Amino acid sequence: MGICDPGLLTPAEEATAEQMEYWEKYFIKNVIQYPGRHLLEIGKPESGKTQFLYYCIDNFREYSPDEAILYFDIGKGDEILSILYYGAYLRHEPATIVTLPGCEIDIHGPAGLDLDFVTVARTADVWDYVIPGQITIASFDPFIEEPLVAVEQSALMYHALSHRAHRRQITAPATIIQDEFQNICPAPGYGYAGTGKEAMLQTRSINLIRQNAQKLRAMQLRLMVTIHDWTQLHPGVRSAFEWMVLRRGSRITSSTDRLSDFNGLWRKIQTPYGYLVLPDGTFSSKLKFPHYKEGNKLGYIAYDGVYEPPKPSKKKKSKKKKEEEEEGDEE
Ligand SMILES: Nc1ncnc2c1ncn2[C@@H]1O[C@H](COP(=O)(O)OP(=O)(O)OP(=O)(O)O)[C@@H](O)[C@H]1O
Ligand SMILES: [Mg+2]
Repeated sequence: MGICDPGLLTPAEEATAEQMEYWEKYFIKNVIQYPGRHLLEIGKPESGKTQFLYYCIDNFREYSPDEAILYFDIGKGDEILSILYYGAYLRHEPATIVTLPGCEIDIHGPAGLDLDFVTVARTADVWDYVIPGQITIASFDPFIEEPLVAVEQSALMYHALSHRAHRRQITAPATIIQDEFQNICPAPGYGYAGTGKEAMLQTRSINLIRQNAQKLRAMQLRLMVTIHDWTQLHPGVRSAFEWMVLRRGSRITSSTDRLSDFNGLWRKIQTPYGYLVLPDGTFSSKLKFPHYKEGNKLGYIAYDGVYEPPKPSKKKKSKKKKEEEEEGDEE
């Protein structure tokens, strides 16, 4: 019936129940159960992006139970409670929360939520806690106040990711979920890197992700990320994402991308709706995604503390200075 081909559809209309079933199966088989396939979700604020991440996590646990999931907490309200509730609690599975020294996270969720709390000295050590078939939440962002520290930690973390991935020192298959990815890989002029050093560090993270995206895919390490606007994401990183989900207000601006001809379709869709874009540029019918309980209906989260990165160790005294001091002692 050709529901895979947008040319044969009236894509502005909501998918029929039959089409919805087709696309859901398609998505599960070709993305959820296919390790390493990166996915980019684009949409204006309040267009349902984070809810779609809950939907993916729910599907990972159901249809790809060996996949490890690492979710980066951005500290937005009580969002991580929805993840813990659907990804762990309802399935009677434990979850791991990773924080930094001096940072405390208080999770008031449903009674019986099985959480293991660990502290890592540096964000780069988070990769030790990617656990087969489990959810790990890395709660770093809410504790980092300085932009320089944020970009530095993210550069170090992505450097460690590529270093370890090459050496197969990370559990795979795994999905790394990063909401609001424009803060990690901003297009020129969009990042919050204010100084030359911040910009340099940010460029480093961007280049690492750009260079390694294909290798991560081959090693069954997937990036699943959301952004507000296509133009805010660094152009060199965009091409790593062949699979996309377009929510309200997505605007593809590349002149070579035929998808940009269809921007009108997703410009004004309502929050529950979105389109799945395939690597060949074709896309699904207008899909209606399910609604998950918001975290604030399930409990609350409180954060306390600020992360202070370890000071770089003082340089070793120069040989000459040491000799001078020793001579002084002898006198
Ligand atoms: N499929 C859905 N059905 C009904 N309501 C939904 C659905 N998806 C999202 N919502 C509601 O819409 C609001 C926005 O959803 P969500 O937080 O996922 O959007 P967002 O794109 O992540 O927003 P932001 O960019 O501000 O983070 C929430 O109140 C959520 O409960
Ligand atoms: Mg969101």
